[in-house]
Amino acid sequence: MSTGNLDFEQFRVFLEKACGILLGENKQYLVSSRLNKLMEQQGIKSLGELVQRIQTQPRGGLREQVVDAMTTNETLWFRDTYPFEVLKNKVIPEFIKNNPGQRLRIWSAACSSGQEPYSLSMAIDEFERTNLGQLKMGAQIVATDLSGAMLNNCKTGEYDSLAIARGLSQERLQRYFDTKGPGRWAIKPPIRSRVEFRSYNLLDSYAPLGKFDIVFCRNVLIYFSAQVKKDILMRIHATLKPGGYLFLGASEALNGLPDHYQMVQCSPGIIYQAK
Ligand SMILES: C[S@@+](CC[C@H](N)C(=O)[O-])C[C@H]1O[C@@H](n2cnc3c(N)ncnc32)[C@H](O)[C@@H]1O
Repeated sequence: MSTGNLDFEQFRVFLEKACGILLGENKQYLVSSRLNKLMEQQGIKSLGELVQRIQTQPRGGLREQVVDAMTTNETLWFRDTYPFEVLKNKVIPEFIKNNPGQRLRIWSAACSSGQEPYSLSMAIDEFERTNLGQLKMGAQIVATDLSGAMLNNCKTGEYDSLAIARGLSQERLQRYFDTKGPGRWAIKPPIRSRVEFRSYNLLDSYAPLGKFDIVFCRNVLIYFSAQVKKDILMRIHATLKPGGYLFLGASEALNGLPDHYQMVQCSPGIIYQAK
């Protein structure tokens, strides 16, 4: 694939506008490796031609396929462990104490292939098993992602042995999955039905999603510019109920915004409480 400097620059601008992802100036190789197959299939010879094709048909298939190919969907079950322990041991008990009679609402923003929201649903089940009847109104998890391909995976709730091997204990596999044939498992209906999947771009308004007690926005802000990241964090703050919690990825930090969030040290792990 030919990636002239001007073409690459135009592609960078397109990608950041479409989904917030900011490509480094030396990331031509990444674009080539991720788009080669798609461009071959479409008979597109250069990045310039690709940008032109997207610009003349701004909505629809090709644009979505390009964004899909450029996103990183790496994920695993119970990623980093501590967020799910903090949820069960601190955040849910606090929620029950401060919000009697309310249903817990969690947003898994950028849920990839579903491991994060389904892990949240399993963690809630684990809490309920040891605290019978305490979460009286139950919980709802709204899980969103930009990628149509990822959301289709999520909705089937089916995973192969490669995906299952990444972070899921045998005990959880036995308890929360049904076998679907050799090397294939499906999430059990009670865990699945707690999660509602929606296609959503983090650059769009969050108003239609309603208010949340907890937001997991993990391992996605690292791809955005400082300005886009700050804007998203401020808008997430507006979706959180007062005292609600934000969970970021283990390698991500919230710099600034002292008027919006208070850092809470959980040993291990840090979470952020909405002021
Ligand atoms: C690395 S995965 C993180 C998955 C999960 N949160 C975790 O921590 O394991 C990043 C996800 O962000 C999604 N994403 C990237 N840009 C997005 C945007 N502008 N709006 C919504 N989702 C986006 C990608 O499609 C991808 O599934």
